[in-house]
Amino acid sequence: MSKKPLILGIESSCDETAASLITENEQGDPIVLSNIISSQVDVHKDFGGVVPELAARSHIEKIDLIVQKAIDESGAKIQDIDAIASTAGPGLIVCLSVGLSFGKALSASLKKPFIAVNHLEGHALSPKLNSKLDYPYLLLLISGGHSQFLSVSGLGKYKRLGTTIDDALGEAFDKTAKLLGVEFPGGPQIEILAKKGNPNKYDLPKPIFNKGGCNLSFAGLKTAVLKISKNIKTDQEKFDLAACFQKTIEDILNKKTNVAFKEFEKQNIIKNKVFVAAGGVAANKGIRSMLINLCKEKNYQSMFPPINLCGDNAAMIAMVGLEKFKSKQFNYLDFPAKPRWSLDTDAIFLKGAGVKL
Ligand code: KG4
Ligand code: ZN
Repeated sequence: MSKKPLILGIESSCDETAASLITENEQGDPIVLSNIISSQVDVHKDFGGVVPELAARSHIEKIDLIVQKAIDESGAKIQDIDAIASTAGPGLIVCLSVGLSFGKALSASLKKPFIAVNHLEGHALSPKLNSKLDYPYLLLLISGGHSQFLSVSGLGKYKRLGTTIDDALGEAFDKTAKLLGVEFPGGPQIEILAKKGNPNKYDLPKPIFNKGGCNLSFAGLKTAVLKISKNIKTDQEKFDLAACFQKTIEDILNKKTNVAFKEFEKQNIIKNKVFVAAGGVAANKGIRSMLINLCKEKNYQSMFPPINLCGDNAAMIAMVGLEKFKSKQFNYLDFPAKPRWSLDTDAIFLKGAGVKL
């Protein structure tokens, strides 16, 4: 029996310091041996958002303890690690630099390969941590910084089909939460408040609903929420606005996913139609169940990472590390931190005023 690869993943791109060890079984399925996440919610709560300088300081204070804990919990020895995979981007440069430098230093001292990981590829491969997932598949990546439809045809092979032209979906959830007076990070709370409200009370806009292919836009929605929130007096009205926001998002994603299905089918020869939703917002149960139903209707198999691996974590970084290790894709230690790093480097920039769809 040959030794299975043992990969250490390190993540520090935003406000989570995380480390994880993964390996695989005889069938080649990944096994998560440890998955340690230290969130900085308390550090940023009073500021209503992530403060880069404070985030970086917190990563520096914790990174060695978190990595040590991941190694201890895995039951493995540090010498048995076969490769170190660190997030190199996209994200906040002061934060990325912490996990990236730590990973490189460990790689140099252990004399083991170093793998630079795109954080978005971590989200893209996260469903592989608990299910078999073959290429090609259609990916809806919805997080705090990104909202995209991508056709995934292999490791590192991404074609963007659509993207947000303004805010990311997670950002829209967080801003709505803030307007409703919910403490940072409020995104997940919207879903809870929405359950108590009337989803038909307010008529919210659905920007570029009937145009722009499967591109997305959420800025106009935020402005409408802002206007209504100024006149809210009761808790019930707050719940109603949350419910309307949640429903509007589900309607937009339903429509745009349908468009993305068609784009995906045009561009790929498909035996099994597979749809994956990943990223922090994919933890939203209302969005999940709408997508599951849509997939059933359109004969797609729907796949999601486990709820606890939707948000930022290092197991997904180690997962990319494992795939790259097996195909011997290593990086030199001068690999830079990349605050911007698209999965589809050929895709044109589609953001801001004057965007033509
Ligand atoms: O993927 P992630 O952890 O970090 C980034 O890479 O950005 O995503 C974080 C985003 C936040 O905006 C958060 O509010 C949102 O995901 N989020 C949710 C839910 N859980 C997390 N949004 C809506 N419903 C949820 N249940
Ligand atoms: Zn993320």
